[in-house]
Amino acid sequence: MSGLIPERVIAEVRERNDIVSVVSEYVELRRAGKNWKGLCPFHKEKTPSFNVNPEDQFYYCFGCGAGGNVINFVMAIENLSFREALERLAERVGIPVVSERASPQARQQQSERERLLELHKAAQEYFHQNLFGQAGGLARQYLAARGIQSETARQFGLGYAPAEWRGLLGYLERRGFSEAECLAAGLASEGRGSRCYDRFRSRLMFPVCDRRGEPIAFGGRVLDASQPKYLNSPETLIFAKGNNLYRLDLARRGFRDKGFAILVEGYMDVISLYQMGFDNAVAALGTAVTENQARILHRFTKEVVIAFDGDAAGEAAAWRGLEILRKQGLRVRVAELPRGEDPDTFVRTYGGQAFEELLNKAPGLTEFKLGTIIRRADLSTVEGKVAATGRIMEVLAGLDSPVEKNEYLRWSAARLKISEDVLAAELEAYEAKAGIESSSRHRISTKSNNRGDGKGRGGSRTAPEVQRQWSGAIQGLSDIESNLLRLLLHNRQLIHRVKGVLSPEDFRHPVAQRAMECLFTCYEAGHLENGAAIFDYVEDLSVQQFFASLLTSRSSLPPAKACMQYVRRLQIMHLKDDLKVLEDQIGRVEQRPLDARLVSQLSNLLIKYRQVREEISRGFQLQRG
Ligand code: UTP
Ligand code: MN
Repeated sequence: MSGLIPERVIAEVRERNDIVSVVSEYVELRRAGKNWKGLCPFHKEKTPSFNVNPEDQFYYCFGCGAGGNVINFVMAIENLSFREALERLAERVGIPVVSERASPQARQQQSERERLLELHKAAQEYFHQNLFGQAGGLARQYLAARGIQSETARQFGLGYAPAEWRGLLGYLERRGFSEAECLAAGLASEGRGSRCYDRFRSRLMFPVCDRRGEPIAFGGRVLDASQPKYLNSPETLIFAKGNNLYRLDLARRGFRDKGFAILVEGYMDVISLYQMGFDNAVAALGTAVTENQARILHRFTKEVVIAFDGDAAGEAAAWRGLEILRKQGLRVRVAELPRGEDPDTFVRTYGGQAFEELLNKAPGLTEFKLGTIIRRADLSTVEGKVAATGRIMEVLAGLDSPVEKNEYLRWSAARLKISEDVLAAELEAYEAKAGIESSSRHRISTKSNNRGDGKGRGGSRTAPEVQRQWSGAIQGLSDIESNLLRLLLHNRQLIHRVKGVLSPEDFRHPVAQRAMECLFTCYEAGHLENGAAIFDYVEDLSVQQFFASLLTSRSSLPPAKACMQYVRRLQIMHLKDDLKVLEDQIGRVEQRPLDARLVSQLSNLLIKYRQVREEISRGFQLQRG
């Protein structure tokens, strides 16, 4: 996960950034004994359960289970990748992080990027000064007419590009940027005889920012009815349209507070909503939501309400957006705006309360789809009904849950004015034709144990993802497993002793398996000290939270000498499980004596049973020796 960054640098960045002082930049902390306490920034709470441990340099929330070291904290709170968080922290304490092994081209690109960022910052200053200076009178009037307060204009860094050919160019040249750089930034265009001129003229300027809130592109709107209405920066080294959501930097906090994102179409929608207190809106910039934008959104929130323009184009875009967002695992609803309104005009006409209601009653994916089909259908003719029924079948057949299927079937039947039975028969026929199994799909469960299936280490990773949300404890993790891991976490020297007899696959629970892998890697890298270092070797959130909870646990730690007993008990536990499976299988084989597959499973289990028995007797010898 660290890519090209040397471990030494990671450790240095971590050690030089005291977790208490970093967390304090976001959370009000109070002393509580040896630790610091505050309201958890990762979930809503009224009494503080968020703890920071200065001694071992990690944090842990008893409420939601969030936990990790200082790098994990910055990743989580700023929604950054490991690398980005590390860079941020390195910058904070003045450690250079551009990878030592980075190629000359990569370094060249990095410095070009930095120049472009500086250039955009300067350009924004220029536009901003103009909006609030002499040249900006008309633009200020325009904003006022649209109900945008100057406070809001400042918050969004709005600006004005005056009606000049070399206004920005002159300004940027005085600030030390070349024409070539302005061209590369997409802020200048090249005319005949390679003369450069400002790309944006007589336009209200909207900076498009990256996640840190730094401008990386601009959109410029005319103040009258001329075309094009909006002119945007082209793609550059620092700006790719489909990778950006307008004002994600501002809305992120809103996502967390409100619990969902509002996705709109335009710049003005975001700004207008923000001013009305809807601080969780972002715009896709253009009509179609891209897969990448959906992926980014999913990192910040679990639910999106689409609020596109109330017209056919908006509806079509919402329909497409739904699928893209849903595929990334987001819950999606659609706020249905009256025809001819967009979120901006809607809140200005009907007020924030009305928009709030619109959000609250926004139908979910299936309801929106079915509703749209029925709204558009001509139910007065048989052909119309048949066509609509066909499209409805498509939606219903795509539903996984039989309960949902049934509910929506009834809902649709009522609206189509067809009897439920007829529609149900229709659906069955449709599914049969499409080769979809009916709802009572049955699968023969051959859930034998997942150890020793010949797949080795990688095999265990295919186990179903552990739940993302914290539910107090890791479900299905035995006390033996967690105590053993806790012991090893606190006494790293013990890792040496268990290395020969224990492997990550010896743990049943996937989180425990990955935790053991991390402990081994950390041990091999020579990090025997307690606390935060372990988190540098953790690759997934559930393991990170698990370690934080183990480090925080107040129950008494078993004595180090109990370690090998735990190993043995772990093995015995598996042995018992195996025997149980074995008995089950034998029971089944007795009923169906000619099943070759079961017979082979049975013999595999026998082999494994013997292996485990041997392991255990080895364990005994080790203990005595
Ligand atoms: P809209 O036309 O809905 O924009 O286009 P809007 O924000 O409501 O504009 P106002 O209210 O008339 O000022 C939605 C988005 O599509 C992009 C812009 O990002 C715009 O915000 N767009 C639109 C362009 O890039 N170019 C255009 O000519 C029009
Ligand atoms: Mn608009």
